[in-house]
Amino acid sequence: MRLSLKTCEVRTWDLSDVDAVARHANNRKVWINLRDAFPHPYTKQHARDFIRTMRQRTPETTFAIVVDGECAGSAGFVLHPDVERVSAEIGYWLGEPFWGRGIATEALVGLTRYAIETHGLTRVYAVPFAGNAASCRVLEKAGYVLEARLRRSAIKDGVVMDQMQYAFIVPE
Ligand SMILES: CC(C)(COP(=O)(O)OP(=O)(O)OC[C@H]1O[C@@H](n2cnc3c(N)ncnc32)[C@H](O)[C@@H]1OP(=O)(O)O)[C@@H](O)C(=O)NCCC(=O)NCCS
Repeated sequence: MRLSLKTCEVRTWDLSDVDAVARHANNRKVWINLRDAFPHPYTKQHARDFIRTMRQRTPETTFAIVVDGECAGSAGFVLHPDVERVSAEIGYWLGEPFWGRGIATEALVGLTRYAIETHGLTRVYAVPFAGNAASCRVLEKAGYVLEARLRRSAIKDGVVMDQMQYAFIVPE
């Protein structure tokens, strides 16, 4: 899979991405905004295992964000089972040197469209921590709408936090 966008590409993982992923993922400012499944410190072995797993997974739902030929981050979605098979949760992160250039927004718009078209979805949603103003802004710029503040719904680094539920709804 490859989406060629203006500021970046969103594409299938390649083992040549290992060094760049490990370099950009090994950052507390990235980790503090993500689920605990994202390791910290983040080693080359973590990157290798992650990329191998993603390359074996069918359907393919997690991709590299590539800027000027270098892997700059990742974006992916989780398809829901059973009656929620029209829904998916989307997530993304970008290495700090790439922040503030509209890259995450463009990748999110492209991947949302891809997820909807490829899997026949009616709803894609994300749940950033309430304090993650940049991610909330990215979701708003990409056309997601705030549905709820999930009070005291998560704990990160020992701190209980609210999460903001944003959704992109495909009209009937
Ligand atoms: C959140 C993240 C993906 C944003 O990526 P990005 O490419 O810098 O995003 P964009 O440039 O497309 O847009 C960022 C927007 O947030 C705004 N912003 C950034 N920091 C902000 C802050 N502290 N308060 C308010 N707005 C902020 C920017 O001004 C910009 O909005 P604008 O275009 O209206 O000016 C990136 O910072 C990141 O990977 N962070 C760590 C991991 C993470 O939080 N992932 C999301 C988990 S839900």
